[in-house]
Amino acid sequence: MILPGQDPAAIAQAAQGLADGRLLGLPTETVYGLAADADNASAVARIFSAKGRPSDHPLIVHVAGSTEAEWTSAVNHYASAVPDFAQRLMRAFWPGPLTLILPRRAHVGAVAAGGQDSIGLRCPSHPVAQAVLHAARERGVHGVAAPSANRFGRVSPTTAAHVAAEFDGLLSDDELLVVDGGACDVGIESTIVDASRGRPVLLRPGMLTPDQLEKAAGQAVLPRDDAAPRASGTLESHYAPRAQVRLMDGQQIQSALDVLGADARHIAVYSRQRLTSASRHLVRRDMPTDAALCAHELFAVLRGFDDAGVKLIWVETPPANPEWDGVRDRLQRAAA
Ligand code: TXA
Ligand code: MG
Repeated sequence: MILPGQDPAAIAQAAQGLADGRLLGLPTETVYGLAADADNASAVARIFSAKGRPSDHPLIVHVAGSTEAEWTSAVNHYASAVPDFAQRLMRAFWPGPLTLILPRRAHVGAVAAGGQDSIGLRCPSHPVAQAVLHAARERGVHGVAAPSANRFGRVSPTTAAHVAAEFDGLLSDDELLVVDGGACDVGIESTIVDASRGRPVLLRPGMLTPDQLEKAAGQAVLPRDDAAPRASGTLESHYAPRAQVRLMDGQQIQSALDVLGADARHIAVYSRQRLTSASRHLVRRDMPTDAALCAHELFAVLRGFDDAGVKLIWVETPPANPEWDGVRDRLQRAAA
C-alpha cells in the first residue's frame, strides 16, 4: 500500500508498522529507503532478503532529531564514541545528507551493521522521514535501518512509484507499506564519512564537497583506502540500469551519432552539449549544467531510459570539478 506522507494517520500507521517489525518504504531527501526497526534482527534480516543483498553489507541507521539534543540520545544508543570531528560534522550537516560511521556499542544493531564493529548513522532532513522517525521513537524504536529501496546493484529510487516498481510483489502481498514523500530533493545517496578509525575518511561521495566537509570537520578528510570496510555503494559496478551505460565526451557522442546517421535506434543520449542526429528514434534528455539539478533527476532519467526500451545509454562525462563528484561516481559505477 502507498500512503500519503502529508496525512498524520499515515505517519502513525507507518510508525506502528516499524514498531511491529514490518518493512516500510521511507522517503528521505537523498533517495527512498527500505526501512525496518534497526534493533529488530528478524525485520532487518527481511531487508537483506527483499533486496537480495549479501548479509555482510552494513546498512545505514536513521535517527530522529531536528536539534543536537534530540539526535544525541539516539546516537548514544548505537555508538560507543563520537570523536570531536564527527560532532562538528553532525552540527554542520544534520539533519541532512551525511552518514557517519561510528564505533558500535556491543550487542546493539549487530544485524543492521552486517557484523561490522561500527555503525552507520544518519539524521535525514526530509520532513516526512522526520515525522515517521519521531512517531516510531514514541513507540520504542531508537533507529531505523534503511538501505536504498532498490534491488541489489540497481538504480536507487527517488519516488514512491520507483519503490513500488522495485518491490511490486511485496506491495501486492501487503508485506510492504510505502510512504509517499514526493520526489527526493537531493536525488543521490548521502555522503559517507568514516569516523570510526581516528581520522575522517570519505567512503562515498555525495552532494557535500570535500572542501565543505574539511571546513566543518576542522581537519583534512582522507580519501578511502583498502582498509575501508566493504560497502555495496562502493562496489565498482552498482547503480546500474538495464541498458548499458557509456561515459563519453560530447565530441565522441557526436561522432558516433554521425556514423549511425538515421539508423541510430535503441540509443539514449544524456548530454549538456547540444548534439545533432539524423535519427528520429534517438531518445534524449538534456543534462543540467548545475550538479545539484543533475543529481536531483539522475536516477529518474536512467529509469526513464530503461522504460523507453533503449539498449545503450550514452552519457556526456560530467565536469571535472568537486561539485560533480557524487554524480560522476554514480555514473562511473553505472557504466562499470
Ligand atoms: O542516502 C542514503 O544514504 C540512503 C538513504 C536511504 O538514507 N541509503 C543508502 O543505503 O544509500 P545503502 O545501503 O544503499 O548504502 C549504504 C552504504 C553502503 O555502501 C554500506 O556498506 C555503507 O553505507 N555502510 C553502512 N554502514 C557501514 C559501516 N558500519 N561501515 C562501513 N560502511 C557502512
Ligand atoms: Mg544502495
